[in-house]
Amino acid sequence: MIQLDFTNMMESAVAGGIAEADWAAAHTPFREAHEDVKDDHEAGRLGFIDLPIDTVCVDQTLVYADAVRGQFRDVVVLGIGGSALGPIALRTALRAPGWNALTEGERGGLPRLHVLDNVDPSTIAALLGRLDLRRSLFVVTSKSGGTAETMAQYLVVRDRLERTVGSAEARAHLVFVTDPEKGALRAIARAEKVPALDVPPNVGGRFSVLSPVGLLPAALIGIDVRALLEGAADMARRSASGVLGENLAGCYATLQWLAHTRHGRPMHVLMPYSDPLRDFADWFVQLWAESLGKVRPDGVHVGPTPIAALGATDQHSQVQLFMEGPADKTVTFVAVDDRGDDVVIPPAGGDVLELSYLGGHTLGELIAVEQRATAGALARRGRPNMTIRLDRVDAWHVGALIMLFELATAYGGQLYGVNAFDQPGVELGKQFAYAMLGRPDAAAARAEWDALPKSDPRWLV
Ligand code: PA5
Repeated sequence: MIQLDFTNMMESAVAGGIAEADWAAAHTPFREAHEDVKDDHEAGRLGFIDLPIDTVCVDQTLVYADAVRGQFRDVVVLGIGGSALGPIALRTALRAPGWNALTEGERGGLPRLHVLDNVDPSTIAALLGRLDLRRSLFVVTSKSGGTAETMAQYLVVRDRLERTVGSAEARAHLVFVTDPEKGALRAIARAEKVPALDVPPNVGGRFSVLSPVGLLPAALIGIDVRALLEGAADMARRSASGVLGENLAGCYATLQWLAHTRHGRPMHVLMPYSDPLRDFADWFVQLWAESLGKVRPDGVHVGPTPIAALGATDQHSQVQLFMEGPADKTVTFVAVDDRGDDVVIPPAGGDVLELSYLGGHTLGELIAVEQRATAGALARRGRPNMTIRLDRVDAWHVGALIMLFELATAYGGQLYGVNAFDQPGVELGKQFAYAMLGRPDAAAARAEWDALPKSDPRWLV
């Protein structure tokens, strides 16, 4: 079960919170946003909503994962952005802490999972230097099939593989996850007979974690991907209504949009009180930022700024800013009821009076109480916040959380008046990089780069 408690977002609980009149009036824009999302979905543009019931994706994934079971000690995802953050979040949430540091026995014979998400040579050289390539599988993930960083990772890895296992054998250490028809990766898969799984054409990078992009790495390390999809399907049902009060994702999106546009809160913090969900917050940051930070058709720049935090750790870091810094934030807590094995805090001994309140409680109680205390303290200081409450962190609940935020992002796009599914703002930087690297079709970007005003460099050395 997942619940959303938004008491502390409202003016009745928090000075400066959302006025009841604004909330009542928001039912109309939400209904319109919902209609637009529904139309886009029915027109086949929002494939992410159908992933939980897309048997082709999950069957393809499980057939491949079963076929290679037991063959590899290390799985490495080559990818960036939406192709990397989902697999990282799933590993952290749904496998034992420090998964890659466990022995093979402790991992139940399942492989380690590494996700590159960058092209810093120091990381890649170190990883390739310590892997046994004969026991490694590389999952090359790119929806477009041509992203410079991912293709560079791939070329480096393929060269190492060919030199280690030979070119004929190299393809047994590669699997691609990409568009079924388009892009360089698909063309290579066809030409060189590398196994390739499909990302449906109507599913974009940051909305793809429930496609083979997230499902394949998850299945390879033994995560129950069917439970993940069932949780997501349940959330899709709970977020399907055009009535605001009956739509969980719609409520989250509308609360954030109102807090931003009516009450000056453009900073949206996601703060799980749960180590397993710490990378989930990074996944959310990309989703919310890249989807909603846009120029509207009327030329106005809009979009909230997402911030990842972790409870209780950030009570000793960012919470000072959340409490007393600019009153421009909302904080969404994620609270977890059942944390599995709990740890009792032993008594400190009779003479240490200032620690006597701790003994006999559990660490689970401590973290839960701290979350409630921080929520209450923020409310008391006029800082709106809400709490998403999960029974536990398991595949079902993580699937549901993923769908909650993906649907909220789709509704958010409509409320903010932007297309949540493109990312035109990243294009110019890419083109300039292509120009500097000499890509033949980047002549126009080269000309634009060369025409940039050249002022005196201002380096401080
Ligand atoms: O969300 C997005 O679309 C982007 O962040 C992409 O995931 C990222 O740019 C990588 O793209 P691709 O999967 O095409 O390699």
